[in-house]
Amino acid sequence: MLHGKRRPYIEQTFDHLKGLDGISADQIAEHLTLYAGYVKQVNALNDELATLRERGRASGRDQEFAELTRRLGFEYNGMILHEYYFSNLRPGSDPKPAPTSKIAQALAESFGSIEQWRTDFHAIGGMRGIGWVLLFQDPVTQRLTNHWVTLHQDGVPASFKPLLVMDVWEHAFMRDYKATEKGRYIDAFLRNTDWRVVERRLVEPMAIRPAAAA
Ligand SMILES: [Fe+2]
Repeated sequence: MLHGKRRPYIEQTFDHLKGLDGISADQIAEHLTLYAGYVKQVNALNDELATLRERGRASGRDQEFAELTRRLGFEYNGMILHEYYFSNLRPGSDPKPAPTSKIAQALAESFGSIEQWRTDFHAIGGMRGIGWVLLFQDPVTQRLTNHWVTLHQDGVPASFKPLLVMDVWEHAFMRDYKATEKGRYIDAFLRNTDWRVVERRLVEPMAIRPAAAA
């Protein structure tokens, strides 16, 4: 009857993150707790909206229905982007993709070189504001582009595929760094980027993020 209530999202576990270089275990533990909150909020919102629909309150003029609906993008992407983020970090990663990898070739084609891609990605991370930096692939043209996403949802190109996701909200780094040291956190993120995961997301159509639904 209420399909939204039957398939809640399940909090994913990320046990592979111990020993990151420059991102502490305490930082990750706190961040995972925040992520768990988004999973709960997505499930709660879907349940609340299902209840409103059941009661015949699905109306743009119903303020509760409208407000909950507006929050879907924020909460969903708060869950989804964190799942991408934690999945594309790994201790002992190589600082750059292997030169013969598809991702290295694709970055060079789209940005001129891996170094130029890295400079662009790092620079976007240094922008003022709360949000994320994403390396996307346009599945139509195969072109790779870096994007700034405000909060969790503003600036996401529809149907583009995330290849690399970096959280630059202050909660992502302020246990380890000062607010003015975001650049050092970005350096650490890039030292821990799991290029094997990025490669898989590029070449495998179904490689997206950990299975989040029950
Ligand atoms: Fe976060």
